[in-house]
Amino acid sequence: ASMIARVEEILDAHKGMEGALLPILHAVQAEFGHVPEAALPVIAEALVITKAEAAGVMSFYHDFREKPAGRHVLKLCRAESCKSVGADALADHARGKLGLDWHETSKDGAVTLEPIFCLGLCACGPAALVDGKLVGRLDAAKLDAIIGGLK
Ligand code: FES
Repeated sequence: ASMIARVEEILDAHKGMEGALLPILHAVQAEFGHVPEAALPVIAEALVITKAEAAGVMSFYHDFREKPAGRHVLKLCRAESCKSVGADALADHARGKLGLDWHETSKDGAVTLEPIFCLGLCACGPAALVDGKLVGRLDAAKLDAIIGGLK
């Protein structure tokens, strides 16, 4: 089925649901790995909101991506507890090392760098999620080793 046909099925499954936008965006991203740009007007129309409103919600929640991710996704915790133990410096280190800013994917398609806001691992910060796996007590050396393994 085409992407739009699949999005329409997802919309049907959420018909009449209150606050359906977030579950719909989650379902679309689960299906395609991102929320395709062409899906937004279809979703907006079904929910009788503007495309700008839908796009605004998407960017407010950091979970949604507009483009397909790389083969690996490195999410660094940017929330308070991790910040208090050096997450900012670590984020700068990662961005420099990868040559990527937030939400960017390396040219070879190996890594996407994303922020995340608390992984529930605050006692072992700075924390990260590497391809869905929790990693705690990060430091520059550990991060370099992780990045080196993302091919
Ligand atoms: Fe980073 Fe909670 S603040 S895991």
